[in-house]
Amino acid sequence: MGWCSCINLFPPSCQLSELKSTMYERQKKLFDSCQRASKVVAYRLKTPPYKLDALEPYMSQRTLELHWGGHHRQYLEYLNRALGKNDILYGCTIDELVKVTYNNGSPLPEFNNAAQFWNHDFFWESMQPGGGKMPELGVLQQIEKDFGSFNNFKEKFVETALTTFGSGWVWLVLKKEERRLEVVKTSNAVTPLVWDDIPIINLDMWEHAYYLDYKGDREEYVKAFMDHLVSWNAAMSRMGRAEAFVNLGEPKIPVA
Ligand SMILES: [Fe+2]
Repeated sequence: MGWCSCINLFPPSCQLSELKSTMYERQKKLFDSCQRASKVVAYRLKTPPYKLDALEPYMSQRTLELHWGGHHRQYLEYLNRALGKNDILYGCTIDELVKVTYNNGSPLPEFNNAAQFWNHDFFWESMQPGGGKMPELGVLQQIEKDFGSFNNFKEKFVETALTTFGSGWVWLVLKKEERRLEVVKTSNAVTPLVWDDIPIINLDMWEHAYYLDYKGDREEYVKAFMDHLVSWNAAMSRMGRAEAFVNLGEPKIPVA
């Protein structure tokens, strides 16, 4: 089966010779790499990198049980079930699957569960017991360079989170083209991966993330994340890896 028709990225009459835009070429490369990879039987649920009670009192064990053990697990089960009916998409890494199923802004049915599965893995690893406080070394210097000060960054992150309407995510991302950090928000399952940004930190702004611990007080939830939960160690590792793709110049981010 040809690439054009199997995942409906183009009208059935499309020809490979018509694939002129960079975006479509990128989608095709991603899809081809999925096809060359050894077949993935099913995606699996990873445990967070700490015990489920380790983020208390800022995020309760009950929330982790419901959020990771319930919602995150359900996204995965729905994804595996959907892929069972469409095995042409098997073989993708989860990052590739998210990008391919985003389908240049016309998402395929598998996108929401694939993206939410990826977003939550990234979220658990964006937190740590005893987190918050200040980043160090190159991450702090890059934040100061791009936001003016760490306090400016914090204010921007909190404001962006609190102006997220409905369900969504707030992110600290590294913009590849601009070679700078930026705070962005996305709706529902959308992740900056699909725009080829490099995520550094994310925060879940779906109600299921905070309702048990904070009821409707989103501001307390966001401040607790920033002051006590965010993992600047994870940010440092991710920034270090990102430097393989983005030349940030000075300061140099050390690989953790
Ligand atoms: Fe969530």
